[in-house]
This record gives sequence, C-alpha cells and structure tokens, in this order.
Amino acid sequence: MHKVTLIKGDGIGPSIMDEAVKVINASGANIQWEEAYAGLAAFEKFGTPLPDETLASFDETRLAFKGPLTTVVGTGFRSINVALRQQYELYANVRPAKTWPGIKTRFDNVDIVIVRENTEGLYAGLEHYLTPKKDIAESLAVVTRSASERIIDYAFKYARDNGRKKVTVCHKANILKYTQGLFLDIARETAVRYPDIQFDEKIIDAACMHMVMNPQQFDVIVCTNMFGDILSDLTAGLVGGLGLIPGANIGADAALFEAVHGSAPDIAGKNLANPLAVIMAGIMMLDYLGETAAAAKIKTAVDKVVNEGIFVTKDINPESNCGTIEMGNAIVEAMK
Ligand SMILES: NC(=O)c1ccc[n+]([C@@H]2O[C@H](COP(=O)([O-])OP(=O)(O)OC[C@H]3O[C@@H](n4cnc5c(N)ncnc54)[C@H](O)[C@@H]3O)[C@@H](O)[C@H]2O)c1
Repeated sequence: MHKVTLIKGDGIGPSIMDEAVKVINASGANIQWEEAYAGLAAFEKFGTPLPDETLASFDETRLAFKGPLTTVVGTGFRSINVALRQQYELYANVRPAKTWPGIKTRFDNVDIVIVRENTEGLYAGLEHYLTPKKDIAESLAVVTRSASERIIDYAFKYARDNGRKKVTVCHKANILKYTQGLFLDIARETAVRYPDIQFDEKIIDAACMHMVMNPQQFDVIVCTNMFGDILSDLTAGLVGGLGLIPGANIGADAALFEAVHGSAPDIAGKNLANPLAVIMAGIMMLDYLGETAAAAKIKTAVDKVVNEGIFVTKDINPESNCGTIEMGNAIVEAMK
C-alpha cells in the first residue's frame, strides 16, 4: 500500500484530480490517498496557502499528487509550488511531451523530455527593490556546482535508463558567462562520462527557433530553472497544448507529481478542463512507485481514448461534446 498526499488544488484542480484519482483507483494500483490542502483553497480554509497539516502529511508520505494551485496575489506569500520544490529539494522537474497520433498538430513524431533544474537559478527567491520609490528592482540567479551536477547527471542517467539517445543542454552562456557558463561547463564535463549518449548544446534563443522548425532533433533537454519553465510550455504547444503535459518533481527522498498547466480560472466549474495532464502525471507516479502494470494499463486506455478522439475534451477535439467527467469515465471504461 502506497500512501500519497492528495492536493486537489484550485480552479479546475478538483475536477481533473477527481477524474485522475478515479482512473488510478480503477487501474488496480494499491494507493491510499490522504487529502490535504494548499493554494487558494487552503488560504480560504486555514488562512495560509500552505498549512502545517499539509506539510505534516507530505513529511510522512514523501509523495504528493497535486492539482494546480492559484498563486495568491498580494498576501506576501511566494508561489507554493516553488516553496514545496525548494523545501523538499525536489530538484529534478521532468516534463515529457510526445505527440499522439489522434491529436492534430503541426509536427508528427515529437518526443521531447525537458529536465529542468527546480531549486535555484532565477527562481531562488532573491528578488527585491533597490530604492524606496520601488523604481529599480533586481533578481539574483543562483547557480551552484552541486545542484548543476545533480540535475545534469539526472538528465544523462534518465536518457540512459529510458532508452534515449541524446541530451541537449540549452543555455545562455554567451551572455551570462558565470551562471550559465558554469552550467554549460558542467554539462560538458558530465557528457564525457556518458559516451553512449549523444551530447549537443544550444543557446536558448536559437533552441526556441530550432524547436519550432525541427522539433524532432530534440530528445532529452536539460536547462536551468526559468529556461526549463518556458521551454516546457513551448513543447506543450508542439504536441497539442497545456492540457496534455505532466510534470514530475523528483528529489532524493520525496516526489511530487502534477500537471504543467495552472488552475485555468477561465474554464473552472464548466466541465471543460482536460484531465489528461494529471492522468499522465499519475502514470509517472505509478512508474515511480514500481506500479508498472497499473501505469501501463492506464497508458493503453488513454492512448485508445485520445486516438479515437470521441470522448475527449474540446481542447483536443473542438467538435466533441465531451467534458472532463465523460473523458475520465471513457478511460476507466477502456481499462475494462
Ligand atoms: N503548477 C501549478 O500549480 C501552476 C502552474 C502554472 C500556473 N499556475 C497558476 O494558475 C493560475 C492561472 O494561470 P494561467 O491562466 O497563467 O495558466 P493556466 O495554465 O491555468 O491557463 C492557460 C490557458 O490554458 C488553458 N488550460 C490550462 N489547463 C487546461 C486544461 N487542463 N484543459 C484545457 N485547457 C487548459 C486555460 O483555459 C487557459 O486558457 C495562476 O494563479 C498561476 O499562478 C499554477
């Protein structure tokens, strides 16, 4: 029995997480859910977006399955997502984006995994105004040798363990010679230890151009925090949108699985949200737990439903009348 802290989140969160939990429970995986709160839902209930009860649950389970959180603006709280990643040292953010034959996109055969450093860089939280008038602000990017070695080694090891051929480091070392230069140097050093994996390096702006012209040349990409954040939305766009992309946040002794997208307040409460990203995150979580049979069972069912294109949400097939709940039901049905 695996105990998992379940945070349904805000906006579309509860509706897509209900479908994901339904699908995971129907897969035969041995999960015991422990519900906890974070984000706006927690702020409204407990007066804080990250209650002690939630941290206590995560401390015990070391595993969380989380819906998107609305960032509470103007309360002095930083992003809860960033806080959780830093507190539990969930240093590797893994975001796979792969085309589905049944979803029409500009390119076929895109299969890219972004491995993003998740604890430092420009998201280290070192940001302030320099003047009382608040007309000059600065953010400091922190890049350490230890965190860079850890994430770059993770990317190469991920490539090797998952039958991938190439790792591309995307950087801006031509301008940011120290922070990005250090990251690039470490990527070059690490590549030598993985002679079986092809190594490539691309300056981030050129990488964006290459990605929208010839995305098939990319396999595993490793980069610092903010570049990974931006590039992973780009890869989402290449394969059909934000509703499809899962994200794993992996640390040495804890992990958190979620969608890449946010709480989508524009479509919340309308049964329109695509539950696929969190269901795919659930598959990653089951693989992480060694529940590989359950993970494979869900993936087969998801492929069937998505490629048939009937019981899918409107972001995948605008002609469809199917909503979040109907799509979840169809995936459960396809597993039978
Ligand atoms: N991991 C997280 O918890 C996370 C990530 C990103 C943003 N956020 C937060 O979410 C809130 C809203 O952010 P935003 O509007 O910039 O980004 P968003 O990802 O919520 O929405 C962007 C667009 O994508 C659409 N979309 C997103 N998920 C979808 C789904 N599953 N199915 C169909 N369409 C979907 C939305 O309708 C919207 O048009 C903000 O408070 C932001 O801070 C949270």
